[in-house]
Amino acid sequence: MNSQQPTALQSFLQDCQQRVNGKLSSHLQKNIPGKNLKEAMEYSCLGGGKRIRPVLAYAGAVAVGGTLNAADGAAAAVELIHAYSLVHDDLPAMDDDDLRRGRPTVHKKYDEATAILVGDALQALAFNILSSQQGITAEGQLQMVKLLSEASGACGMVGGQILDFEAVGVSLTLEQMQQMHNLKTGALIRSAVVMGGLSHPDISEDQLAALDNYASNLGLAFQVHDDILDVTGDTETLGKPQGSDSEQNKPTYVSLLGLEGANQKAQELSDSAVSSLREFSEDADYLRELAVYVIERIH
Ligand code: IPE
Ligand code: IPE
Ligand code: MG
Ligand code: MG
Ligand code: MG
Repeated sequence: MNSQQPTALQSFLQDCQQRVNGKLSSHLQKNIPGKNLKEAMEYSCLGGGKRIRPVLAYAGAVAVGGTLNAADGAAAAVELIHAYSLVHDDLPAMDDDDLRRGRPTVHKKYDEATAILVGDALQALAFNILSSQQGITAEGQLQMVKLLSEASGACGMVGGQILDFEAVGVSLTLEQMQQMHNLKTGALIRSAVVMGGLSHPDISEDQLAALDNYASNLGLAFQVHDDILDVTGDTETLGKPQGSDSEQNKPTYVSLLGLEGANQKAQELSDSAVSSLREFSEDADYLRELAVYVIERIH
């Protein structure tokens, strides 16, 4: 066997990454005012990044027999919310990081005002794209808008970010840590998978519940592994500063459980995610393989 041959998952990842990059790039072909706003928006969401949330939206659609076309809006929208959350996460008032995706963060490359406004604009664009998606039912579309707004707002990602901010220098219980991670990272990842499922009109309640269960476990596993990489990774591979969490005295799964405990936790969550898909056919294999990928990735 030729070891250079990409696996089915690698090809799927690549196809989805290219697909969503094309969509994002075309959605940014607008007349945007200001000296730098358009360039900074492109800088923040087109240069680098794994595109794992769009891939999960596409894989969620495939798992229930849906199409990539129908999931395009969900894929682009969730990546835009994610990109906005990173631009704001890196600001001096938050994690104060200078490197993202192997390049200077948006506030370093431009300035803080531009970074704040880029985040605002990416968020608005996300909902514009999601509500403009053609070829899905109005009901499905409305459910997606509702889901993404909940996942990104005060009871989702923003809520998790404020818990993270308030936790600096504090030791959290495992339950508090789980709540923080579920909100700051899990909610958006969950919305990616579930929106992918919702893009298919024939999804059943049982399938939706199973996808939801899968995605909740996966979202938490993703952030547990992100905490591990902050300790075990290197800045060049990560494309963001290694050791940022401990430098800022942030409680993480590693500070709470140790490296081995955190790895074990990530493995358990990944296994639970895969078990949630037991009623699905091989159409859900990308989701199954992605549950392994998120806890084995090196960046
Ligand atoms: C980093 O997310 C921020 C977290 C929520 C842990 P990713 O690891 O998906 O970052 P990119 O998109 O690949 O840069
Ligand atoms: C980021 O968590 C969560 C969001 C951006 C919502 P982190 O602060 O751990 O992400 P990185 O490590 O900077 O990518
Ligand atoms: Mg942070
Ligand atoms: Mg950060
Ligand atoms: Mg991190």
